[in-house]
Amino acid sequence: MSTAASPAKRRTRDTWTSQTGFLMAAIGSAIGLGNIWRFPGVAYTNGGGAFLVPYLVALLFAGIPILWLEYAVGHKFRGTPPWAFRRMNAKGEFLGWLCVFICFVIITYYAAVVAWSGSYVFYSITEAWGEDSQTFFLSSFLGTVGSDEFSWTPVAAVAIPLVLVWACILLIASFGVARGLEKANKIFLPLLVVLFLALVVRALFLPGALEGLSAFFTPNWSSLTQPKVWLAAFAQIFFSLSVGFGIMLTYASYLQKKSNVTGTALVAGFANSSFEILAGIGVFSALGFMAHSQGVTVSELKGLTGPILSFVTFPKIISMMPGGPLFGVLFFSSLVLAGITSLLSLLQVVSGAIQDKFALTPAKASLVMGIPTTIISLAFFATRSGLNTLDIIDNFINNVGVVGCAIAMALYTALVRPRLRGLRRHLNSVSAPSIPPVWDYLVGIVIPLVLAFMLVTSVISSISEGYGGYAGYLVNIFGWGSVGFALLASAILTLMPWSHPHRSSTSSTSKEIA
Ligand code: ALA
Repeated sequence: MSTAASPAKRRTRDTWTSQTGFLMAAIGSAIGLGNIWRFPGVAYTNGGGAFLVPYLVALLFAGIPILWLEYAVGHKFRGTPPWAFRRMNAKGEFLGWLCVFICFVIITYYAAVVAWSGSYVFYSITEAWGEDSQTFFLSSFLGTVGSDEFSWTPVAAVAIPLVLVWACILLIASFGVARGLEKANKIFLPLLVVLFLALVVRALFLPGALEGLSAFFTPNWSSLTQPKVWLAAFAQIFFSLSVGFGIMLTYASYLQKKSNVTGTALVAGFANSSFEILAGIGVFSALGFMAHSQGVTVSELKGLTGPILSFVTFPKIISMMPGGPLFGVLFFSSLVLAGITSLLSLLQVVSGAIQDKFALTPAKASLVMGIPTTIISLAFFATRSGLNTLDIIDNFINNVGVVGCAIAMALYTALVRPRLRGLRRHLNSVSAPSIPPVWDYLVGIVIPLVLAFMLVTSVISSISEGYGGYAGYLVNIFGWGSVGFALLASAILTLMPWSHPHRSSTSSTSKEIA
């Protein structure tokens, strides 16, 4: 049985060059499409201002505690999810791969949305959508087929920017954590903040902005009695903070040993939520302008969520406003920048895991994973049924895959040594502020129960009602199929042998870590 290799035999693990570099990458991961296109619509349809109550509860009692958990495991066990969970217990590797394959599935469609946004930066300059932004987006640009059809017919307008997005993120990832991800985040994140602030300030000065803000923030307190509103808040926090599927665990594994982990998590969590609320202010100021120009109220407007909000409603607003093309360029460039920094973090989970398991360099890992992921991304999302496939997979991989993975992660760390108490002590020994003992109960009992309720609710509703009006066969193949794919691929990778000699056995790991 092999034991830990001598330090000379180990490849030195890449690390962030500074705490600030890590913090920027963590914030860059958290701020993504979820903040700009998802949050405003979710908040508006789930009680407006009142939604901030479940949202803050979810942030403080689930988001930050799970963020601390991921940081603790990544920092203590210094590995991507398969290796970190395997170091805790030989049977934990499968859970690690599950995180990896959930990220894998998400990247393949997330990259497509970043590619659409890239194209819309250019379309904004000429307002290429003309009078009818909906027909342009759904028919001229995506060539979308009906909700009961599947098509392999490629769409060049999506495929070309999609290949560019893949080339860009794989190239950055090939330089590794310090030279690739950290440098990219140090450029992209400040640029995003500047562009987005300019956009929000412009939106706030549009006529009707105040009506928009009032529609967004006016609380509908009765919504707080509905479980679906609370579920929406928890789902939003998990997706938006990038927790529950191994991203933050992976990022924390590249921290230097002496790092203030708990404080950094608080800064990252609050920075993400501040950006999210800023996005709500910007988006609803613009919607207020649209309602004002059309002589209606915001509540009468349609298309306030998801892709339609960004790619149909926003182009309409751009056409109506003075200086619209510049506003469009700012909006879609913000989506590209926010999307790229999140994509890089999703990609690092996959790349880091295969580097850990097969002793690859970042450049080789980019090549090995880049080819299949780009092909899958093109085959399913740069085709005429790409929008529908994306919508189905996004729903299932988040509501079933991510939630299931977060439950498994919380229970695993509650039951397997060093258990939550040991992980908390580890964090407190290197960080401030200290985590109180109540965290053990939150992560080990309360959060898994709340998430299990969410999971059961969404599984029952998906089985009984289907999803989004799509044909049952499409929901089965892509919705349940994406979850099945993640499980199957995780099992296969778990069975494959480790290339690192010191990683082929876990017998030495407890001593090694202590
Ligand atoms: N946290 C990333 C987002 O909000 C995944 O889009």
